[in-house]
Amino acid sequence: MNRLVAIWRSTIGKKIAMAGSGILLVLFLLSHMISNATVLSDPKHLDDYAAFLRSFGPLLWVARLGLLALVGIHVAAAWQLTQMARGARTADYDRREAQVATYAARTMRWGGVLVVVFIVYHILHYTTGTLHPDFREGEVGRNLIVGMQSVPVALFYAVTMLTIGMHLWHGVWSVFQTLGVSHPAWDRTRRGLAVVLAVVIAGGFLLIPLSALLGVLQWPPR
Ligand code: HEM
Repeated sequence: MNRLVAIWRSTIGKKIAMAGSGILLVLFLLSHMISNATVLSDPKHLDDYAAFLRSFGPLLWVARLGLLALVGIHVAAAWQLTQMARGARTADYDRREAQVATYAARTMRWGGVLVVVFIVYHILHYTTGTLHPDFREGEVGRNLIVGMQSVPVALFYAVTMLTIGMHLWHGVWSVFQTLGVSHPAWDRTRRGLAVVLAVVIAGGFLLIPLSALLGVLQWPPR
């Protein structure tokens, strides 16, 4: 236990915690995106998938708590690394303009804050139904489509998915650095993988609010 605390206290320990939790969150996002996309063919598919997940009973709660812990670790490590970097600097930069960093890198922190706000809203929207206009227990596909019929809501989802795409793009790129795979010979592969994962995951999610905005996704289905 003491060893774990010592690792967490070091900069490299926090970076590894951030990378590890990030990788597991990417896997969750990939599976969540694929299951959501089934609503485009038939909303019943999503109901069946949700019923299958609920059949695990208390284990589903273990998975939910695990997911929450991963988000907590990821955010805490990011926050503490920022504080450590600020503390290590005796004076502020003369010029704040990033010279090398991409737009995605510069928006990591605010993007992260938006994603956390989104997660809270999203759970109240689709899991508890508190912020849903007409929530029906167990009708997950229908709830998804009905909840996406409001233009401001669909736009909020679309903007957040674009932010998640940027976050993933820079995050996947950085994880290689943390894991020590940062040789120039690997740069093309790193860059390619970062772009592909960001486009596939964010693009797959984006299909849903965009289909709703374009009137392709409607309830009752056409
Ligand atoms: C267009 C994008 C998205 C749509 C349409 C969507 C849809 C849904 C729906 C319908 C549910 C309820 C599932 C159920 O009751 O079984 C749900 C749950 C959830 N979503 Fe999303 N989601 C999207 C993006 C995201 C993103 C980007 C994240 C994370 C950053 C996320 C995290 C979650 C979490 C944590 C739950 C709760 C899971 C549970 O408690 O069982 N979702 N989502």
